[in-house]
Amino acid sequence: MTALEEELPQHLQGNWSPVQEERTIADLTVTGTIPPELDGRYVRNGANPITGFSDHPFTGDGMIHGVRLRDGAAEWYRNRYVQTPFIADPDRAVIDMAESLTDMTSSKANTNVVGHAGQILALEEGHFPYALDGNLDTVGPTDYDGRLTGPFTAHPKICPDTGEMLAFGYSMMEPYLTYLRVSKDGTLEQVENITVGGPTMMHDFNVTRNH
Ligand SMILES: [Fe+2]
Repeated sequence: MTALEEELPQHLQGNWSPVQEERTIADLTVTGTIPPELDGRYVRNGANPITGFSDHPFTGDGMIHGVRLRDGAAEWYRNRYVQTPFIADPDRAVIDMAESLTDMTSSKANTNVVGHAGQILALEEGHFPYALDGNLDTVGPTDYDGRLTGPFTAHPKICPDTGEMLAFGYSMMEPYLTYLRVSKDGTLEQVENITVGGPTMMHDFNVTRNH
């Protein structure tokens, strides 16, 4: 670790150092064999502040790293920033709380990434999902044809029986908690308020067949 790195907060040191270069690497070397039935992308999301600095681990810009697997080969590795408003305008790097509560596109998109209904979604729990294409380039924020009007969790659950994506949104403002159900084909079919006592923060949840 360099002396300069030691000056930085722990979440920007060593293995947590921001990656700021977007790369595309083909013909990856494979150690051992990749099962040929694996056909898809292995992707991860994490915070990489585009300015090189964030004052908190949660406020870095979302960057998706992925490996494309097909026919027993690792076709590519690539990493891409999720193109949020904070990437277009790094002067906006500091999150404005009032704006964050009302502008559902003002996401850092840095918490999780899931695949559903043919889309890759970069998620953070206070705003709309950001859709990505198969090459990890950003399509844009999605509000499910206007049906989503508030935050969307970073931890939706995909039902192995129905293919539906079950999710929720929470807020400091009414409605405090909303249940969301996206159909297998990507239509937001259910938006239902859940009565709770007041402003809510809820990071994750779980769902069973009956509860
Ligand atoms: Fe989490």
